[in-house]
Amino acid sequence: MQTILERYQKTFAKDRELSLAATQLFPDGVTHDSRYMAPFPVYISHADGAKKWGLEGNEFIDYWAGHGALLLGHNPPAVVEAVTAQMHRGTHYGACHPLELEWARLVTELIPSAERIRFVSSGTEATLMAIRLARTYTGKNKVLKFTGHFHGWHDSLILGAYPPFEVPVPGIPQEVRDTTLLCPPNDIDAVETLLKTDADIACVILEPTGASFGIVPTDGAFLRHLRELTESHGVLLIFDEVITGFRVAPGGAQAYYDVTPDMTTLAKILAGGLPGGALVGKKEILALISMQSEKRGLKMPHPGTFNANPLSASAGIAMLNIVKTGEPHQQANRLAKQLRDALNQLIDAHGLDWAVYGEFSGIKLLIGHGEKDVRAVAFNPYEWDYRKLKGGNDARLLTPLRCGLLLNGIDLASNGGMTTAVHTEADIAKTVNAFAQTIEWMKVEGLIS
Ligand SMILES: Cc1ncc(COP(=O)(O)O)c(C=O)c1O
Repeated sequence: MQTILERYQKTFAKDRELSLAATQLFPDGVTHDSRYMAPFPVYISHADGAKKWGLEGNEFIDYWAGHGALLLGHNPPAVVEAVTAQMHRGTHYGACHPLELEWARLVTELIPSAERIRFVSSGTEATLMAIRLARTYTGKNKVLKFTGHFHGWHDSLILGAYPPFEVPVPGIPQEVRDTTLLCPPNDIDAVETLLKTDADIACVILEPTGASFGIVPTDGAFLRHLRELTESHGVLLIFDEVITGFRVAPGGAQAYYDVTPDMTTLAKILAGGLPGGALVGKKEILALISMQSEKRGLKMPHPGTFNANPLSASAGIAMLNIVKTGEPHQQANRLAKQLRDALNQLIDAHGLDWAVYGEFSGIKLLIGHGEKDVRAVAFNPYEWDYRKLKGGNDARLLTPLRCGLLLNGIDLASNGGMTTAVHTEADIAKTVNAFAQTIEWMKVEGLIS
């Protein structure tokens, strides 16, 4: 009998070869930390809708959704049409252009906190800009962030993003580390204590639906409390909506929860599947990048070669015009719930200490959590310590699970994935079958019982 890994090595022989060659070019052979996968990742030749195809012609249902950028799946016709037309008109004018206004108008129409906007090229750039502006505006230095929340990889905010959370990230000077205050997620008392005892806090930043799009979920009551506390202490509140923006609701988590931050960071869906990001917020804060602020010695310099480039703008406009109908996120949310429910029933039928959870279009995997008496259908992440949720998967099970799912035509990231508006009920049914088959294989191998 072949093990799952043996089957994987055999089925994806071409991928193995390519991956070996890739290690001579890239550390670990990959171009993004989360694309690393043991024993090697699959390579994709093309994609369409909710599917993508491998080198051997294998078809996968895709739950990566372009790291969250593809709410409408791969190659939505309106985006393809807009980008194709724009390619012939120029990809970079080194100048202002009408599309940037159209794109910005859509964003300001949809996102409640967006009085003014500045386009950037990525989510990392947007959060970097947000905290620099917060420091400039308040004259204070420190940033309060929540353990496990991810805001990109720059010095101030990568701290505490991944387990083991307290271990400092190498290459970041102690002086910078001292300006990032890590607070346990969802702990409003800890926030209050920090705000009361440290007068040098410029801003609080968070993912409004919780760490990594809800691996450690956060609720509306926490957001409302945070809004009140930050306001009363003269501290700016930043929602990092790089992943939740346009996905949770057309107006992002802030519209869904009716809590308006001072600034919001956006990327992913914003640029319709192409690179792009934005920082939006109160006009008096964004005024600090204005040339007028230079007179007061306050101007924050802000160039950026690809800011608002016409190609990303054309994709973003096409995407947001569809987002604003309010339909895509509803379809994605509905299918994600259907998938979570069906998988949890399967997990319980097998008596496994696994759970699939998440809100909106999120699918979070907790595999091998060790609590035998917790039924997957009743699993409540709000009652669990964040350390058991983020980084709580049993790594020995995750590799065969992911390989088994790929062999059965499903591509999920190690911590789960997302649905799009173009996944179908047939995709959900196929995904449940793929889990069922993989669980059977894992049982036969004695990996689970
Ligand atoms: C909430 C959040 N903030 C920031 C980022 C960083 O964005 P980018 O990868 O575009 O730099 C991400 C990326 O996954 C994210 O999910």
